[in-house]
Amino acid sequence: MTGDNEDRNCPVPSHVGIIMDGNGRWAAARGMPRGFGHKAGVDAVRKTVRAAAELGIQHVTLYAFSSENWARPAQEVRDLLGLMKLFITRDLAELCANGVRIRVIGDRQGLSADILGLVETAEIRSRDNSKLNLNIAFNYGGRDEIRRAFVKLAAQVVEQGLDPASISEADIGAALDTGAQPDPDLLIRTSGEMRLSNFMLWQAAYSEFVFLPCMWPDFDKSWLEQAIDEYSSRTRRYGGVHDAKDVAL
Ligand code: IPE
Ligand code: IPE
Ligand code: MG
Repeated sequence: MTGDNEDRNCPVPSHVGIIMDGNGRWAAARGMPRGFGHKAGVDAVRKTVRAAAELGIQHVTLYAFSSENWARPAQEVRDLLGLMKLFITRDLAELCANGVRIRVIGDRQGLSADILGLVETAEIRSRDNSKLNLNIAFNYGGRDEIRRAFVKLAAQVVEQGLDPASISEADIGAALDTGAQPDPDLLIRTSGEMRLSNFMLWQAAYSEFVFLPCMWPDFDKSWLEQAIDEYSSRTRRYGGVHDAKDVAL
């Protein structure tokens, strides 16, 4: 189904990051508890992964639980952790069958042994898949990720005699959880909020941002296509000039 993109004037983004927001408001609008929205949000995750593969997107990063989300009521945190476990348990076989490679980014030290075990199993079982790279950002914060990269590099300075002045942007990028993966081309946030909330702070330097009004449980392939169409209409300049016409102006 990659032919879906043939009529687009710009290549499909290689890496799409998604801030999946609005589960609580979606549930509240239906007179239901927030956990109901999170459950519906998992169905939207399934649809999105399938749609991304159909559209030929190579890398998808989903923001599932931030390092700040521990501040939520204990029951909600339990619901979110439970859904993560359920998602891996129920969906791993199908994701593997569809060629999806799963990686979890974020601080693992804050995760319980049962979640860690599932995460490691998912990563190991899916590591030879190459149709779609799926990063799940869980217990993830952009500042914390950069802090942990600093710690790694500082250890190399102390233990391996790395010259601090030699540390390049590429070295810092490689020390992040996303390692060698390309930066996100397109960042989508649902629910109408227009902020990063600590998502991919380093990697988003030149990402295109698309903010959608829909709540996350309502997100589907047509919203993804709408975001990609918007992305396709943008001119990425990376600080330079686009073409000779720009220079003449
Ligand atoms: C996104 O929905 C899911 C997570 C942050 C885990 P929210 O739970 O933030 O929903 P709203 O923003 O309160 O509606
Ligand atoms: C960002 O959403 C985190 C995730 C989507 C996992 P939040 O709902 O936590 O962000 P804020 O609090 O509105 O900034
Ligand atoms: Mg929110």
